[in-house]
Amino acid sequence: MREPQRSRIGVFDSGVGGLTVLRELYRQLPKESILYFGDTARLPYGNRSPQVILQYVREILTWMAEEEVKMVIMACNTSSALALETVQQEFNMPILGVILPGARAAVRQGRRIGVISTPATAASNAYRHAIHEVNPDALVWQMGCPEFVPLIEQNRLHDPYTLEVAKGYLQPLLDADIDTLVFGCTHYRHLTPVFQQILPSHIRLVDPASHVVKAARQELEVMGLRNSEMSIATRFTVSGCPQQFAELSQQWLGFTPMVEKISLPCLSSIYPQPLEIRE
Ligand code: DGL
Repeated sequence: MREPQRSRIGVFDSGVGGLTVLRELYRQLPKESILYFGDTARLPYGNRSPQVILQYVREILTWMAEEEVKMVIMACNTSSALALETVQQEFNMPILGVILPGARAAVRQGRRIGVISTPATAASNAYRHAIHEVNPDALVWQMGCPEFVPLIEQNRLHDPYTLEVAKGYLQPLLDADIDTLVFGCTHYRHLTPVFQQILPSHIRLVDPASHVVKAARQELEVMGLRNSEMSIATRFTVSGCPQQFAELSQQWLGFTPMVEKISLPCLSSIYPQPLEIRE
């Protein structure tokens, strides 16, 4: 068995959103080796029921535990909002979510906080609760944005339709006079050029990706799990089409990754299969 410090950190998302966290890992923790998983066969997560999301997360973590990762970063707000507390009790490895680090960073930036996210994250009120834990006086507006993830995964970043959709989601937050906007979905950083066309420059943008990686660095230090030798190449895995993921992600990675398709374990004998309820 290899030394635990040399093991990979598991990072997962429904698709390419988690690459915003991966880039931060490359920047802040270049010696760490990463196992990335995108559940592209089942995205978007953001309009699925809490039970279904929890089941998906359990499957991913079961597989990552088999792969002997030393830590998992949920690079997905929807999973962090709906499954983090439950799976932290069920799995014997450190598991970090993006919401608490994002909420803490938002409170340091402003008092009138807008959060754009998937509908499931908005409905969970996870950001509102996390922000109010740190500052009960902060004002929070949450906006579910169901169209963003499909548009990003279809690479429609420069489509005029995407700009129109973004204006529709952001206008109520501008009307509320927010001073801070949180990217409450890891995909949304990829839309920064679109947001820059809409948002006045005084609004501060908070991307939880950089803050969860800071939290991961601290946790690795405390647990004595930081790697001090050279990292090995990231292993990219998906549940859907590897080619499509490779082509889409190269614009953010700066290289075309080698991507493997994997099958997750089926856990229906351990946890009853939840009914799929889609809006
Ligand atoms: N990127 C994910 C998040 O942060 C989920 C996107 C989705 O599949 O809806 O919420």
